[in-house]
Parts: sequence; C-alpha cells; structure tokens
Amino acid sequence: MSWSPFKPDIIEDPANGHQHLLCECPVHHCEEFDPPFYTLSRYADVEEALRDIETYSSHWGQGPRFTEPAGMLSDPPQHTVYRKLVQQAFTPKAVEALRPQVEALTDRLIDDILAGPAEFDFHDQFAFPLPVIIIAGMLGVPSSDLEQFKIWSDMQVDIMGSEDPTKYMDEQMKFQEYMFNHMMNRRSELESGVEVPDDLLTLVAGAKKEDGNYIPDGDALSMLNQLLVGGNETTTSLITNLMWRLLEEPARWQMILDDASLIEGAVEESLRFDPPVLGLYRNNTRDVELHGQLIPEGNKVWINYAAANRDPDVFDNPDEFDITRPLQRHMAFGLGVHFCIGAPTARLEAEVALNRLRERLPGLELVNTGERIGPFFLWGRRKLPLRRV
Ligand code: HEM
Repeated sequence: MSWSPFKPDIIEDPANGHQHLLCECPVHHCEEFDPPFYTLSRYADVEEALRDIETYSSHWGQGPRFTEPAGMLSDPPQHTVYRKLVQQAFTPKAVEALRPQVEALTDRLIDDILAGPAEFDFHDQFAFPLPVIIIAGMLGVPSSDLEQFKIWSDMQVDIMGSEDPTKYMDEQMKFQEYMFNHMMNRRSELESGVEVPDDLLTLVAGAKKEDGNYIPDGDALSMLNQLLVGGNETTTSLITNLMWRLLEEPARWQMILDDASLIEGAVEESLRFDPPVLGLYRNNTRDVELHGQLIPEGNKVWINYAAANRDPDVFDNPDEFDITRPLQRHMAFGLGVHFCIGAPTARLEAEVALNRLRERLPGLELVNTGERIGPFFLWGRRKLPLRRV
C-alpha cells in the first residue's frame, strides 16, 4: 500500500495509514505537495527530531511551506526570548485563575443547549465557542468580534496548509490590520498610563527589547497570531474528538458517568488517539541518514505526532481507545523547546467541559460522526450532531 496524507482514505481517517508508515516506511517522501516533504513517524525518531533542534530547525516555519522566521516560529536564541515572554501568561497560577471563567462559560453553553432542541450540533454550540471565547478574552478581543475572529483563525490554519500562500489575500490583509490596530491601541493605553488588563495582549504589545524599543511589530503580530490559532481550533478538536469517542461506545460514556476520576485519563487518551495536530514541520539543516534512507539538507520534514502515538513499541494495543490506559507521554503537544505552551489551558478546558457535561447532560447520544475539519495536518470534527435523550 502506498501512503500519502492526501489520499481520500487517509484524509477520512489518518489512522488508516499509521501502521504502514511505522512498520514499512519510517522515512516517507511525499511528492504530492509543493515543496515535497519527508515524514517521520516512529516514536523514537519523532522524539529525536524534536530534541535535536540544530538538525531539525524551526527557522523556516513549522508549516509545510518555507516561511521567514517570526516571533516563536524560530530557533533559539530568538525563540527563547519570546517564549519566556509569553510563558508568563501560562504559569500554573495563571492557568488555574482561568478556571472560574471556564466553568461559568461551560455552564452558560450547557444552559443554552438545555433550552434548545433535543438534537444539536456539539461543535457549533459547545466545542467551538468555549476555547475561542477564552483565548479571545486572553487577547483582549471584544465579544462582538468573536465570529469574525473565528473566521480569521480558521483562515490562518487553512493558509498554513495550503500550497498557495496568497490564498485569501484580501481577508488576510484585513486580519493583519485588525490585529495591528488592536495591538497599537493597547500600546497607546499603556503609554498614556490608563489602567489596562493584565493579559496576554498587554504582555506582547508592551514587550520591549534591552535598548528600550518595542520588539519588532512582525514578531509581536506573529505571536498574537500563533496564540490565536494555537488556542482555538486545536482545543475545539480535542473536545469534539473526546466526546465522539466516548459516545461512539455508550459503555465508555457510562464509565465516565459512573466515575469522574476517569476524566483525566480520558482526556489524555483522546490526545494520544486523536491528536488535534497530526504533525508539524521542521527543516533539516544537514543530510540525515535514517533507516537506510537519506533526507538531504534543506528539506521540509513532517514530524508525525499522530503516528508516533500509535507506535506499538511504546503503547500496548495502540489502536485501541482505552481511557483506563496508564498515563504515558504522548506526542500530541510536541516535545522539547517548542512543547505546547497552552497545554495546561487546553487540559483545563477539556476537563472542566467533561466534568460539567457528565453532571448536567448525562443523557447524550451520537446522531452521526459529523464531518472532519479541512486541513490535512489537523484532526477534529467541524460538525458533531448529538441528541439529548
Ligand atoms: C488540544 C489543544 C492543543 C494542541 C493539540 C496543541 C498542539 C501544539 C503542538 C503540537 C505544539 C508544538 C509545536 C511544535 O512542535 O512545533 C504547540 C505549540 C504551541 N501551542 Fe499549542 N496546542 C493546543 C492548545 C494550545 C492553546 C490553548 C494555546 C494558547 C492559548 C496554544 C499555544 C501554543 C503556542 C504559542 C505554541 C508554540 C510554542 C513554541 O514554539 O515554543 N496551544 N501546540
């Protein structure tokens, strides 16, 4: 069987190709994309690539196309400086401080579901609004702009996976202009001494270099973009994927209803089994020979977290979804210096969501499996019809 991430059966379910990649083709060359790219899938190779940042660089971006370094989409030392800056908004204390807001929002969304028809779309009414409202709050975006904000966030992801970087040129300009003005407004507020929220926007908009000048606008905007995209569709996908798998087998949902202590394991198993980011890219800075195959210097290499999460050398019965599986490090949030900065936020949102859903909406069933989201390197449902019973 030949493998390609663009084959219809792999798009339909990427797991259809994992064992082929892992067992027969641990270094794959895909020529169906411009630029062509290599794929690494074994857990040990993925781990090695994510740790060896000199060989597998992020300098030319983490998407399939080559892009200029900006913000945290870069290597150290630039990456280290910007990561340290943003990290301040993701300390355990800062994440825990979000809990009441996440709980209140979750309850509001459930109130609306309870007040509506028995059949509803779980993506539209729950999994999408939850993370977008939280990240928009962290970035100081007013709730009146949320719908537009979501459209722009999806557009960013679509552009990242597209061979044509000029796609949505006009919309992209509008988005950049919006974010630029948004950032500049916060800067003016900071300069005029008015009280501003202690949030991510203030951190990035107010960040200065050692010489006292603001960090370059391109880097600041890149970080705001990355936070917007990173904090948004990925967490929506985690929540849809998780509910899809739990309701697919009613006995699994019953286990959660019977025992809330299984929630953490269920979230981690969902991340392992259905990682919302199937993989991201690196750029190899030297020739690499692996499993008898050459990856010549200067290529894009797709680090396939999803396949690594199904590696039988690491996970017993990897193709089985088991919420009681002992916790083991999966690759859904990457590894090493670029490890997902928002992982604790995503885990908090998913755990609060599941806790509240089991308490307030225990009678749920799947109407059908809905639809997959578009970009080939991401994995989630853009529709997930459920029924209250
Ligand atoms: C289930 C939800 C999420 C998943 C699956 C996810 C996945 C990932 C992955 C795989 C990486 C590593 C990138 C790499 O290796 O190059 C990453 C990095 C990142 N994520 Fe997440 N993410 C999620 C949620 C979030 C949230 C909620 C935020 C922000 C609020 C966020 C912000 C970021 C940022 C800023 C980075 C870049 C870190 C760096 O380069 O140092 N993510 N994410």
